[in-house]
Parts: sequence; structure tokens; C-alpha cells
Amino acid sequence: MLLLNPGPVSLTERVRRSMLQPDLCHRESEFYDLQDEARTRLLATHELDPKEWTAVLMTASGTAAVESMVASLVPEAGRLLVVENGVYGERIAQICARYGLRHDRIVGSWMKAPDFDSIAARLDAGTGDARFTHLAVVHHETTTGRLNDLKSLASLCRKRGVSLLLDGVSSFGAEAIDFEDGTLAAVAATANKCLHGVPGVSFVIVRRDALAQAFSRTYYLDLGRLARLQDERNTPFTPAVHAYYALVEALREYAELGGRPARHGHYAALAEQVLMGLAALGIEAVVPPDESSVVLRAYRLPDGLSYRTLHDLLKAEGFVIYAGQGDLSKTLFRISTMGDLTAVDIDRLLKCFSRLHR
Ligand SMILES: Cc1ncc(COP(=O)(O)O)c(C=O)c1O
Repeated sequence: MLLLNPGPVSLTERVRRSMLQPDLCHRESEFYDLQDEARTRLLATHELDPKEWTAVLMTASGTAAVESMVASLVPEAGRLLVVENGVYGERIAQICARYGLRHDRIVGSWMKAPDFDSIAARLDAGTGDARFTHLAVVHHETTTGRLNDLKSLASLCRKRGVSLLLDGVSSFGAEAIDFEDGTLAAVAATANKCLHGVPGVSFVIVRRDALAQAFSRTYYLDLGRLARLQDERNTPFTPAVHAYYALVEALREYAELGGRPARHGHYAALAEQVLMGLAALGIEAVVPPDESSVVLRAYRLPDGLSYRTLHDLLKAEGFVIYAGQGDLSKTLFRISTMGDLTAVDIDRLLKCFSRLHR
């Protein structure tokens, strides 16, 4: 079965086999070597200086990394503006509400790019005690496949001295993230999407100066504590050891294959192949290609074909596609090109589509 859902992904044989390594006690030096290698390799994906940045691991899914980032990095006197144009932007606002963080939302259409003028106006309206210290946004809004324009958002932040918190769960490792820009305080991401590891480990890559101001609001997801203990070759809880094996192997493979530019190029070629193949059958993408990620795209369901029927027919052929979220499940379906996929796999997928569509 090939997974075309947005994670977990189809594994390479190499990553799958890496989980068959010896049982490991997480209080032994072998585990701390593994933890150190994962942290070092995560920084190496973007050639980050470990004196300036650190990668903090947690045994949890991507949402936990986002929660840890938001709950730990916005100080008590801080205020966060959340940009929402999909399910995952909404989720950040829900996390803020649950922790009682001072925050506001800029809610846009799920089908559109964020409105930069409104964001600028909202940031400017917050003055004195109500000043916004942070802006949170989802880089790749997996709800629709839209890649939010990080450059423009970072520029709004830079002019106003606002720190950027990024949900990079479905973009980290494939789409470009400018760590040098100075506004980015942290990115939350996970092992089992563009990095091709397995579910169970997620992480926050955070500037050390932002971490120095971290606030302790949560117990398990306390970013400052996790970072301190990991720097000391320690861990507060029992980690998902086998998922760490897989993450390290996936990161070795990622580096050997050419790192982020190579992964982006591979996904872009597959995404284009899907787009052109479906377009030839009259199936349209929902988001224009120049506003889409290379990671996942959403397509309109052909008239008279329900998602359930399409899903079941493709599953019988060995492909798992993904539904739209909420009401979108009635109008669209999603195809991700993450994981161990080739042009031959996509060719076979398109042949299945053309048989269905006849
Ligand atoms: C952008 C984004 N953020 C957060 C999440 C949540 O990740 P998880 O399901 O691993 O908790 C996802 C999952 O697809 C995502 O795409």
C-alpha cells in the first residue's frame, strides 16, 4: 500500500529496517548518542549554528511540538497574533485559549492567502500593554495545500520587532524556511512527514535567546526543561526509542540524497506529474500552483463521484488518498507526494484515475 496522505508516509526500506536495531535503555550512553545525533542532524538540515539554535525533541505528534512552542515561548506579558486560514491555524488559536495566553486571531478564508494589510493593521493597533510580541502562522496549511508567504509575514514582523512562531509540521525539510531573517524564533515540526521518519518524535527548532526567556506553563511539553536536560545528555521521560532510530536513519538518508533542495525538487516533480495528469482528466487543483506547496495538493472531486467511492476504488489498487477536512470532504480530496514515492508510482496512480474516469 502506498500512502498519499499527509503523514505518516511510506517508509524507505532503510528507515524501516533501522527500527530492528538492539533494544536500548534510554538511560544508557547509546541512547544519548542517538539523541545527540538526531539533534545535530536536525540543525544540519539548515546549516544552523548550534550556539544560536537548538533542536528540542519530544516523544509526541506534531501538535505537541506546536503546543510546546506556543505555550513555552510567549511570556506572561506577551501577546500573540494567530494567522488562520485552515484547520491548523485554528488549532494554534485553540491551544492559546486552553493555556489562557493573551492572543488575538486574524481569521481568513480557507481558500485564500492571508491578507497582509489586515495583519499589519492588527499588529499596529496593539500598542502599550496590548502590544503584540509574537505572530504565529502555519507555513504549509495542509487543509488546502496552500503555502503561506513566509517572506511577507517575516517582513511585517521585522518592521515591528515581533517574533515569528512557525508551525512547520508539514513543510519542514522540503519547503524553504529562512532562519537567517532574524524574526523567526522557533519552528515546530515532526519526524513523520517531509523527513520520512515514523510517528512518535516531534521537535522544536528554537533560537537559544528565545529559549532563555521561555515560560514554564506545561509539564510534559516544557520546552526550556526539555532543552536543558537534552543539552546535559539526559531526558525527563521515556522516549520512543525506535522512532528515534528511524528519525536518525531518515536524517542520514536525507543528507546523503542531497538535503532540502533535493527533497524539494523530488516532491515538486511528483506534484507536477499529479497536477498535469489529473488536469488531463479534467480534475482541477483547488489552489493555484504558484501558491501551493510541493508537499500536498487539494483537487476538486469530479461531479457525481463521492470521496468515499474514490478512496475505496484507489485503495483497492494500493493507494491511500486523503479526504478534505470538515465540509471540504464533500468537494475535494488531497494527494501528498511525501514519502518513498517515485514517478513510476504516480504513473500507476494516474492510470487508475483514468480507468475510474472513463
Ligand atoms: C500544518 C500541520 N500542523 C499540525 C499538524 C498536526 O500534526 P499531528 O497530527 O502529528 O499532531 C499537522 C498534521 O497533519 C499539520 O499538517
